[in-house]
Amino acid sequence: MSDQRRVLIVDDYEPLSEFLKISLTDRGFDVTTVGTGAECMELIRSGFVGTVLLDVRLPDTSGLDLLQAIKLENPILPVIMITAHASLEVAVEATRRGGFDFIPKGTQITERLEVSLKNAFDHLHLKLKVLEYESSGSADKLNFSNFLTVSPRMNDLMATLRSVVNSDVAVLIEGESGTGKELIARAIHSNGSRSAKPFVAVNCAGIPETLLETEMFGHEKGAFTGAASRRTGRFEAANGGILFLDEVGELPMSLQAKLLRVLQEKTFERIGGNTPIQVNVRIISATNRDLMEEVKAGRFREDLFYRLSVFPVRLLPLRQRAEDIPMLAEHFLLKYKKEEGKDIKGFTGPALDILKSLRFPGNVRELENLVRHAVIVATSGEITDTDIQTTLRNHGIQIAPQPGGGAPQPAGYYAQFKLRDRLAAVFPTFESLVPMEALQDEYLRMAVDAAGGNVTRAARRLGIGRATMYRRQKVGE
Ligand SMILES: Nc1ncnc2c1ncn2[C@@H]1O[C@H](COP(=O)(O)OP(=O)(O)OP(=O)(O)O)[C@@H](O)[C@H]1O
Ligand SMILES: [Mg+2]
Repeated sequence: MSDQRRVLIVDDYEPLSEFLKISLTDRGFDVTTVGTGAECMELIRSGFVGTVLLDVRLPDTSGLDLLQAIKLENPILPVIMITAHASLEVAVEATRRGGFDFIPKGTQITERLEVSLKNAFDHLHLKLKVLEYESSGSADKLNFSNFLTVSPRMNDLMATLRSVVNSDVAVLIEGESGTGKELIARAIHSNGSRSAKPFVAVNCAGIPETLLETEMFGHEKGAFTGAASRRTGRFEAANGGILFLDEVGELPMSLQAKLLRVLQEKTFERIGGNTPIQVNVRIISATNRDLMEEVKAGRFREDLFYRLSVFPVRLLPLRQRAEDIPMLAEHFLLKYKKEEGKDIKGFTGPALDILKSLRFPGNVRELENLVRHAVIVATSGEITDTDIQTTLRNHGIQIAPQPGGGAPQPAGYYAQFKLRDRLAAVFPTFESLVPMEALQDEYLRMAVDAAGGNVTRAARRLGIGRATMYRRQKVGE
């Protein structure tokens, strides 16, 4: 990670560049100094990776032109401009040409530089990580580095996952929608000993029970009206490989029993058949519910739960690892600017600030959609806060000011997400839960407010009687 410490100082005023060299070397940076634009470009062309500190006035060229030349040669290098003659125009022009920061020469220069360099290297690190991913990530060769994350907790998780890729233990991946459950399941497959064998997914949600059963186990010819020929199910298709049971929490009770039997006996019969079929599949399942809660509520068989969750994995919602947002946004930007054929360098700071402040009930998928949309609406070479706001508005999100003037928060657009995810966005942790009664009182009051004070209308919307509403005696207090 030596790239993380390399600094190139381009300044013809030797006393200053020597002073900076000494103080930055002291702080652990690996510093090179040059006095001209020509020398600077030579180093950049020969593959320098690090942060450039650039004086605005140079003997052979202007710092602003040099900035542009550096950006053309290697757009990911952060360039910090330093100048004795700070002026707003130059600062604006530097930003427009892709400068990372602008620092006036003065007494505070080392302190300011230290902060700026830290940000610059964070930025560079993300860019490098995304690039590495882009170059390694041909679609059929998934690996764990496809799951981009800088969150320490998620990285620990990835490390433990690597230890089970070659075993046959059943993995249960829990996480809200859009947290990357399927991505992880596929990564386990392509990194493990079954990678040459099929990865077959079954979505257990939203299919009528009988269809789902056919889907999983297949049927014999004439098994039922319309079964004109024999059909093999997903279990057979996955033989030797991995069967991915998506949304396993939605599996109907009768199929839970059947699945359990298959897992215990490793054989099953097609519907309408009686020849036992032997299969060797590894099961990975995913759910956006808390499956243990489903067990407690009597909706999911406990014995099946233990079979499926030999190795449980819980993916954090994006809002609990906001540090991942800039890198993921950058990653999706690279993806969609190519698709849209647009030349967009990155996000402005305020644009990233908005992204970081959102709750993302739809997690990474939602971020991906937002970035994609922002790429489409962007009119300049960067995605600005205005572009993000336009995107949010187009998605039906009003950025309402938070009470107390906090970060902007979308309102009114959560309707597209499951109630459970919406609640999870408001009560993300055990500690944040409030007593039932308090929640109910507040909800009733809110409903009446939203109905413009019309109790009857509010009651109708909530599906309760007016009398009940009044009986709670909280309304209109
Ligand atoms: N850490 C990540 N790095 C890169 N891309 C990611 C990451 N997490 C999720 N994605 C992308 O976000 C999208 C949603 O991920 P995925 O389909 O795996 O989520 P999921 O948890 O299965 O969601 P659902 O519960 O809604 O099915 C995909 O396009 C995926 O490639
Ligand atoms: Mg999924």
